[in-house]
Amino acid sequence: MKKVIVTGGAGFIGSHTVVELNAAGYVPVIIDDLRNSEERVLEGLEAILGSRPRFHRVDCTDAAALGKAIAGEGAVHGVIHFAADKAVGESVEHPAKYYRNNIGSLAVMLEAMIDRRIGQLVFSSSCTVYGQPAALPVAETASDRDASSPYGYTKVVCEQLVRDQCQAAPSLKAVMLRYFNPIGAHPSGRIGELPRGVPSNLVPFVAQTAAGLRAQLLINGDDYATPDGTCIRDYIHVMDLARAHVRALQWMDGRAGSTCEVFNLGTGRGNSVMEVVKGFEDVNGVKVPYAIGPRRAGDVEVVYADTRKSHDVLGWSCHHDLRDALRDAWNWQRSLKP
Ligand code: UD1
Repeated sequence: MKKVIVTGGAGFIGSHTVVELNAAGYVPVIIDDLRNSEERVLEGLEAILGSRPRFHRVDCTDAAALGKAIAGEGAVHGVIHFAADKAVGESVEHPAKYYRNNIGSLAVMLEAMIDRRIGQLVFSSSCTVYGQPAALPVAETASDRDASSPYGYTKVVCEQLVRDQCQAAPSLKAVMLRYFNPIGAHPSGRIGELPRGVPSNLVPFVAQTAAGLRAQLLINGDDYATPDGTCIRDYIHVMDLARAHVRALQWMDGRAGSTCEVFNLGTGRGNSVMEVVKGFEDVNGVKVPYAIGPRRAGDVEVVYADTRKSHDVLGWSCHHDLRDALRDAWNWQRSLKP
């Protein structure tokens, strides 16, 4: 049984990846300081897995504590590094915090991996590195220098750090996964996204509005050059995203010699904000009161993935569509006690 460290494993994408790792026969070990998550995620995971996953409450920028936690696990096959701050707006207000946490935790983890001779890394990146791409769908070869927020730039710098480290230590294999817009939840309704305070992402806000926790959704502009005027994104079910991490590990297993590759993870299709709102109402039979507000600063108009490389190289593709994801998001919202 291969142990895989999952930093940020109590977070949204991390927790779903823990489920998929377990299903594929790996032993996931969560390292998370719960700063942006909650103990109840571990309870949800226990309900799904049948036993509580291994867990260390550690801040990944704390080299001593991280080193101790990893050393205590003995032989470790690989690391999936999710732990990071991810709120675009907050990153504009507090850039230093974002650079310190996101780049610092990766640097500390890379040193720990070298120290413990752990040879495989999956790094959690984002389509935000593309900014507004010149051509759509956007492929991995597109320019990654126009990330449009401090959060986005931390991902650009982290990717470069991984490349530099792979160059310096050819025994390290790395896969960097650029997520488009992860939504939905585990179909059991036991784990899902747990936004702190008012959600800034679309689908959690929609779900809370449908549940009556928010009076109305504000759609951030309807005057974009898109068919219905609202922004277009590539919404991917979190379970499909989670499964891609397992594929990435398996793919690295099959490769001899140094490996450092980047892959898009999206559906390859774009949907507008309005389509998401109407789709949510339709699939779940609920109303989502909304109003049209001004544009949100820094929003890109349209972005969706070219998924050919992840299909052809990783042999991965999506099993779920937007409707599945919106149904599972609502199922999760209803399972939450107010
Ligand atoms: C952005 C980043 C993504 C990052 C994520 C982290 C880009 C292209 N994407 O996602 O890489 O991982 O933040 O949080 O930079 N919307 C509303 N009303 C709301 C909330 C959102 O209309 O109350 C709209 C937004 O303006 C946007 C769409 O819904 O057009 C999706 O927004 P959101 O869920 O926040 O994701 P991104 O901004 O695409």
